[in-house]
Amino acid sequence: MIETKKKVCLRTFGCQMNAYDSKRMAGMLAEMGYAQVAEPEAADLIVLNTCSVRRLAEEKVYSYVGELKRLKREKPWLLIGVGGCVAQQEGDKLLRRLPHLDFVFGPDALNRLPELVTQAAKGKRQALTKLGPPSAPAQIIVPAEPGLRAMVTVMTGCDNFCSYCVVPYVRGRERSRPAGEVLEEVAALVAAGAREITLLGQNVNSYRDPDGGLDFAGLLGRVNDVPELWRIRFTTSHPKDLSPSLIEAMAGLEKVMEQMHLPAQSGSNRMLKAMNRGYTRERYLEQVNLLRQKVPSVALGSDIIVGFPGETRQDFEESLSLLREVRYDFLYSFKYSDRPFTKAGRLENQLEEEVKSERLVELQALQREIGLAEHQAQAGKLEEVLVEGPARHGEGLMSGRTRAGRVVNFPGTPELAESLVMVRITEGRENSLAGELLPAPGAISA
Ligand code: 5AD
Ligand code: SF4
Repeated sequence: MIETKKKVCLRTFGCQMNAYDSKRMAGMLAEMGYAQVAEPEAADLIVLNTCSVRRLAEEKVYSYVGELKRLKREKPWLLIGVGGCVAQQEGDKLLRRLPHLDFVFGPDALNRLPELVTQAAKGKRQALTKLGPPSAPAQIIVPAEPGLRAMVTVMTGCDNFCSYCVVPYVRGRERSRPAGEVLEEVAALVAAGAREITLLGQNVNSYRDPDGGLDFAGLLGRVNDVPELWRIRFTTSHPKDLSPSLIEAMAGLEKVMEQMHLPAQSGSNRMLKAMNRGYTRERYLEQVNLLRQKVPSVALGSDIIVGFPGETRQDFEESLSLLREVRYDFLYSFKYSDRPFTKAGRLENQLEEEVKSERLVELQALQREIGLAEHQAQAGKLEEVLVEGPARHGEGLMSGRTRAGRVVNFPGTPELAESLVMVRITEGRENSLAGELLPAPGAISA
């Protein structure tokens, strides 16, 4: 039989929100008869889901689309579309600057992807970048094989307007999905085989069920009741409104994992103010202490920006000292880059690239030290591990995650994949833990 199925190459840049959106895109395209391929050379349709949160990410998109020109010349029927935040930010400009591009669609036009592809095939070039109304309906699209760990968006957009951030401009105002819809999607993913769900939102603490007023802690309680679901994670929590009820939910709900991403962005009060973050270093530390009191085994993550306009050596050292004080398990650190529409982009005291790079290297070196020490301190502990599959490196090793989200590699056989096992941690390394499997009681198989 001759293979006639159309092929799509879907490339995702950026955050977990985009990874989630890409899964939805893949689902819609599968319904249109598109099979996924990894290489753009083999595709009839190329869709890029883009991120504009930092300048580097945006530049990557332009250079990637630029390279596709050659393919389009070889295969004039090839369709190329750009979605996501760069699409939202640049809109029509993308179509003008890149004549080989067929369509552009912002995050709120995602559900119209099939229509865009059909019209592009008929020669219509267009950019759909209208931000949706507050109650934009979300369609539930569940992939046939979601995998063991899946994501569900509970809210989109952001109302915080941190002075460096483009998100409120490209993702629009905060909108929560009805709890009923979230629960339906979680249940459908679990029925298709998922056992761990990560609930996503730019600021999950602002979640409010539009149909009944349930807050995020309440939503967690409802998700916790979904049968056959084993683990729940969520991201991101804004430190300014991390609520006591959310901390209680993490402490009290068995399926909610002990992991919290609580981006500080800086350790300097002067910078936090200029960033419009809405909390001080002291308040942030109070939140961390409360959380650690109620959930002692919690693993904390953070984002730090170095080189925000006007950041002095002293300000930067306060970020270093915050790292020493909190001792994060996970840290994402970035050089500040100016973004369109933002207040910080218009500030004059921008730092030299070289200074930003030096600070980033210094911060990351400190975090490597802290991360390694924190991992080493795990040695000897007994951990419940959700086994994902064979480890990427090392013969005969299986890999999974602890409740706190740390990666553990341990000697084991492939049938352990997708089950919960108990592992004794034997060694902490920079990015993972090593362990040994404990005998079966308590092990559950999917
Ligand atoms: N420059 C550098 N980092 C940024 N982030 C957001 N905007 C910028 C910017 N203009 C970082 C923040 C945020 C993460 C997703 O990206 O740390 O938490
Ligand atoms: Fe951006 Fe701040 Fe909103 Fe996060 S909370 S998406 S950093 S504006």
